[in-house]
Amino acid sequence: MQILKLINTLIENIQRKSYFFHKIYIIFYRQFIKTVTTLLAAKKLKKLCKNCKSLDDNVNIALSYTYSLFEGSPYKVVLNSLQNKVELQEFIKLVAKNRSRIIIEIGTHFGGTLFLFSRFGSHDALLISIDLPTWNLKGGYGRLRSFFYRSFRSKHQKMIFVAQDSHHPSTLKEVKNHLKNKEIDLLFIDGDHSYEGVKKDFETYSPLVKNDGMIAFHDIVVHDQGENCEVNKFWNEIKEKFEYKEIVENWYQKHWGIGVIINKKGYK
Ligand SMILES: C[S@@+](CC[C@H](N)C(=O)[O-])C[C@H]1O[C@@H](n2cnc3c(N)ncnc32)[C@H](O)[C@@H]1O
Repeated sequence: MQILKLINTLIENIQRKSYFFHKIYIIFYRQFIKTVTTLLAAKKLKKLCKNCKSLDDNVNIALSYTYSLFEGSPYKVVLNSLQNKVELQEFIKLVAKNRSRIIIEIGTHFGGTLFLFSRFGSHDALLISIDLPTWNLKGGYGRLRSFFYRSFRSKHQKMIFVAQDSHHPSTLKEVKNHLKNKEIDLLFIDGDHSYEGVKKDFETYSPLVKNDGMIAFHDIVVHDQGENCEVNKFWNEIKEKFEYKEIVENWYQKHWGIGVIINKKGYK
């Protein structure tokens, strides 16, 4: 890797001096570095996962896996999740207990929860990730990252990426096409956190969930006003209509908190 670091420094020096070379650098070299980094990041993660049996080991990876070709590389692959560790562990225990087979995640970003769903969902799970295309400012991911995410799968699992706004009617249509009339075991809502956004995700996708399936919401704790997170408002409106569980380490932590509808039956 030392030699790669030297080549990188050399190329960066040349591209600073020449506009033409700068363009070439941006277009090809960065793309090359990104591709190689992603391939190796996926390979290293697979190796790491072989020795990683406990829930704790897996959650640690989901919260902080980083790979770069060399120190100071212009690109690194990050696997991460903006979650409270204790809450995440409790939630993933439920996913494992239910052996969730068909899982839809709205909002994947740096892939932490998607990674855990693939590790603790059923061995033949179908995992559908819905997220915005990369050019938006809220998160999302591009093709290379979906390549990386696909490497999480075990032999019989399938992963599908729907790079669209979850609220757009064509997204629901595409999801239904992939489901082929099968019902969802777990719907994880962690995309648009505004009141209207969460409500719309719930109303659009919950009819696809099995009667005894789970619907989970991230960020049910009251957040600081500036964060524009109103999941708590919608969650408090609907939770009593179901059998539900709240996984919250501390109601005053101002972030996180997972609300899970254990059983959909009874919705009025
Ligand atoms: C908090 S992150 C998800 C984190 C991930 N579930 C985890 O814990 O590892 C929220 C993601 O939702 C996505 N998002 C926001 N609004 C969305 C929408 N309307 N449709 C699809 N994805 C959306 C953002 O692009 C972002 O990647």
